[in-house]
Amino acid sequence: MSEQFKGQVAIITGAASGLGLAIAKKLHAEGIRVAMLDLNQDATQAASQEVGENAAAFPADITDEAQVGSCIAQIGQRFGRIDILVNSAGVTGRTNVKSHEVELADFRRVFEVNVVGSFIVSPGASFTTGFTFDLTGGRATY
Ligand SMILES: NC(=O)c1ccc[n+]([C@@H]2O[C@H](COP(=O)([O-])OP(=O)(O)OC[C@H]3O[C@@H](n4cnc5c(N)ncnc54)[C@H](O)[C@@H]3O)[C@@H](O)[C@H]2O)c1
Repeated sequence: MSEQFKGQVAIITGAASGLGLAIAKKLHAEGIRVAMLDLNQDATQAASQEVGENAAAFPADITDEAQVGSCIAQIGQRFGRIDILVNSAGVTGRTNVKSHEVELADFRRVFEVNVVGSFIVSPGASFTTGFTFDLTGGRATY
């Protein structure tokens, strides 16, 4: 294990499965403490236990500002710093359909999770240390 990232803290969204979980395992193996965010509460808890003692589960819907703000505050309290953000949560929407069969609501949901959700998490996970939290309005600011 390299010492390059030792003690750092990573937030990983979509960490209960797939790419997010694989990234969580890899970063944890590098000595990074990982805060695992995912919509799926049970799967996130199970995944964090699978990853190891320096992993913690933070169930949240990344499209919900209040939930994300609350998670960021909890991560700050638990780990005291945030160094890395991996936006891996995402959905594909309905696939294997012709373009004219795609429903607007489905198309919008993909953008809401993949684009807007990542936008919501990104400023919350400011790459700094020693921050304080103001959750007024459901958004973490520091
Ligand atoms: N796996 C690949 O080869 C691949 C390739 C290119 C792009 N992608 C894209 O990367 C993203 C992740 O892929 P994956 O294979 O890990 O998918 P996955 O379905 O295994 O994992 C996505 C995770 O995101 C979580 N999630 C979904 N909506 C959420 C929300 N609103 N809030 C919080 N968490 C939410 C899910 O619960 C799930 O655990 C997807 O957008 C996918 O389309 C994947």
